[in-house]
Amino acid sequence: MKRRAFLSGALSAATASLFARHAYAQGAGEAMHPMHAMPGMSDMPAMSGGMTAAQAPLAAADALPAGAPLAVLRTLANESREPGQFRATLIARRAQRPLLQGQPQTVFWQYDAGGTTGNDGPVIGPLIDVREGDTVEITFVNRLPQPSTIHWHGLPVPPDQDGNPSSPVAPGEQHVYRFTLPPGSAGTYWYHPHPHMLTSEQVFRGLAGPIVVRAAADPLAAWPERHLFVSDLKLAADGTIAPNSMMDWMNGREGQFVLVNGAREPQIEVVRDERWRVWNGCNARYLRLAFDDGRAFAQVGTDGGLLGTAREGVTELLLAPGERAELIVRAGQGASRASLIAAQYDRHKMAMSHGSLPAGPSQILANIRFAPGETTQPALPARLRDIAPLDASGSKPPAKKTVLFSEAMDMHAMHQPGAATHRMPSGMQFMVNGAVFDPARVTLTSRRGEVEHWAIANGTDMDHPFHLHGTQFQVLAREQGGVRKNEDWLAWRDTVNVRRGETVHIATVQHEAGDRMFHCHILEHEDLGMMGTLRVS
Ligand code: C2O
Ligand code: CU
Ligand code: CU
Repeated sequence: MKRRAFLSGALSAATASLFARHAYAQGAGEAMHPMHAMPGMSDMPAMSGGMTAAQAPLAAADALPAGAPLAVLRTLANESREPGQFRATLIARRAQRPLLQGQPQTVFWQYDAGGTTGNDGPVIGPLIDVREGDTVEITFVNRLPQPSTIHWHGLPVPPDQDGNPSSPVAPGEQHVYRFTLPPGSAGTYWYHPHPHMLTSEQVFRGLAGPIVVRAAADPLAAWPERHLFVSDLKLAADGTIAPNSMMDWMNGREGQFVLVNGAREPQIEVVRDERWRVWNGCNARYLRLAFDDGRAFAQVGTDGGLLGTAREGVTELLLAPGERAELIVRAGQGASRASLIAAQYDRHKMAMSHGSLPAGPSQILANIRFAPGETTQPALPARLRDIAPLDASGSKPPAKKTVLFSEAMDMHAMHQPGAATHRMPSGMQFMVNGAVFDPARVTLTSRRGEVEHWAIANGTDMDHPFHLHGTQFQVLAREQGGVRKNEDWLAWRDTVNVRRGETVHIATVQHEAGDRMFHCHILEHEDLGMMGTLRVS
């Protein structure tokens, strides 16, 4: 067995790991078989050309400065003077930042308001701060070298205004998105591109921004609010943003930097109790939020807004890619320090040899100095809002739908010369209900206004965050190894992690006719086809 030599030789670690799990040949007449049974693994000359597409060396993990005060996100100014109207322009374009000493400036792609220069401040797109009932009109100008769209992640906007991959805006073109925010839509959302097979790249180059929709009567309106938009950056040593490796495509891209409001390990001063909104805007990184000293916080909101009552005494909270949360962080008694961390979380990334990679170490997101002042904070209201269970009305039992995530590695295709040098790697399939995304195919159908129960089953060996467009859903139960555990608190979500082997049961309803996407929010998996179309009639 020459496997050792083979793994350390021509083959990249990423590709080797494909051989370890679920790898099979799909070539004509070839039987499916696990890769370890493959003969002649050491004599595949074609692979040395195709599979080792050299990754440029990465910048050191401490190459970015740390410890600056947390940057305040830019805010998108409203150009309309009319009450209830929000009008603005968002330009997607290149912008640069001097990140690495002695290297050329790093070129990002970012969203800028019309009339701004865009070469300073956080790369994160400007905050869209709007109210329930507002009519929003945003002119999107695409100055990228690729087609793009703006998707309003989590917002109940009409299907034809939601930046679906089927509605691309060509380079140099512009498009006006229009929607009205209905009552009850207050919450923490975000926007990002959603073009066919280019979403991963456009987001990792910097295109993503936060949205806050405020309620007319917000029980926490008096609380000081802080925004932490978490993003991921994989930077080459020459200051360029590194392209995806085979490993990034397979497991989802995680760079060496995790940034909060565009910077590494910012410093935060907490002098009184605060309301935090946290976005996981990373392509693939899971954020198991915690303080390094184990101190508790309260969770008061999810993707789709406030909970019924605060969840006190929380010491860790998992935010999968795409998810958001609202927290109450208390200044406490007396001065203290703590780090907000992304604690170790094992999402079972595929490994070189048997099974999975070990989980990476925990990472510091921000360092916090707690310095409580004199001001006394109002207590959290006992009731934040009413959330009714999403019930099928009438006597009819709700329609049931099943979504199955699966993956397959096609060794035959991966052996072709140049497999890894393609924009998209050959030979990896990430599927929904047995097929990769096809823009011409409808995966599921629904009737508007009808509450449905969906079972989202993860038949793979790694976690995948499920996301559904155009609505908020409620998690009913989580089932694993034959054990079903009902969700014991009601919340509105648009993204939920589905662990390997797990089935998550949700209740959901669509209110408008048209096509909605649903997909894994590891953006590399989405681009590789772990996405379906829901046609609502
Ligand atoms: Cu945040 Cu379809 O995506
Ligand atoms: Cu979305
Ligand atoms: Cu996935």
